[in-house]
Amino acid sequence: MLSIDNVSKSFMGVRALRGVSFVGAADEILGLIGPNGAGKSTLVNAISGVLKPDSGSIRLGDVDLTGRGPEFAARQGVGRTFQNLRLFPSLTVRQNVEVGLITCRRHRPEVARSIDIDALLDRFGLAADAGRPAGTLPYGQQRRLELARAEALGAKLLLLDEPAAGMNDYETAALADQLRAIRRRSRCALLVIDHDLHFIMSVCDRICVLDMGEVVAIGTPELIRANPKVAEIYLGAAEAAPHQKNIREERQWN
Ligand SMILES: Nc1ncnc2c1ncn2[C@@H]1O[C@H](COP(=O)(O)OP(=O)(O)OP(=O)(O)O)[C@@H](O)[C@H]1O
Ligand SMILES: [Mg+2]
Repeated sequence: MLSIDNVSKSFMGVRALRGVSFVGAADEILGLIGPNGAGKSTLVNAISGVLKPDSGSIRLGDVDLTGRGPEFAARQGVGRTFQNLRLFPSLTVRQNVEVGLITCRRHRPEVARSIDIDALLDRFGLAADAGRPAGTLPYGQQRRLELARAEALGAKLLLLDEPAAGMNDYETAALADQLRAIRRRSRCALLVIDHDLHFIMSVCDRICVLDMGEVVAIGTPELIRANPKVAEIYLGAAEAAPHQKNIREERQWN
């Protein structure tokens, strides 16, 4: 279980997170949405230990992760992908996944034993390209490879920063299935940031909405869709009520 308690973080006067609190269940797919600059990546950076919050605490199960750094977070089972791809471009597709598995062997050996790299590559449609340098794959396949490597990490909590960015509708639908399958196989929780609301609504059990560093709402997709404060943030205060139905149709809340 992930517990975020009153987490704040400022960058030279910019208050990126202001007293953020919520709890995520151990097997939950939790969405994290909000306009550009809302603080989503900052929160993921704080959970994964890349950033130290100014105050507040972050716990995974019984373990306090706050300010302990990325190595410690990884050892406790926090895995992540980045808003911008961070594959090793000159390593092959297979080697990129092996790097993830090395981390998993160190931190969750019992999970590592159950991971078969060839089957994993096959599931993500990458088997035919296993020997190719990752940097030579088309962008959509690089995104899939990032996800395969993330699964190989064997994380208890997987943080995905905009996994659907740059994908077409077909790829996004497949991604939703892949995320559910990762949860089932790895028995993990996922925290998913994305601007594609249709995707987020379709894949998440609950959604947390951030705006200007604060949690505006958290709940099921149905509740978030019907929440007037959320509509206001995305559609403008004056027009919020008559346009609420648009939330369902909006693909990008950028
Ligand atoms: N390293 C940093 N130095 C200075 N300011 C930062 C830094 N990282 C984030 N910020 C600021 O903190 C705020 C939150 O940024 P963050 O990247 O978390 O937003 P986001 O919700 O991920 O946005 P996006 O949807 O555009 O990715 C923004 O005002 C941003 O400019
Ligand atoms: Mg971001």
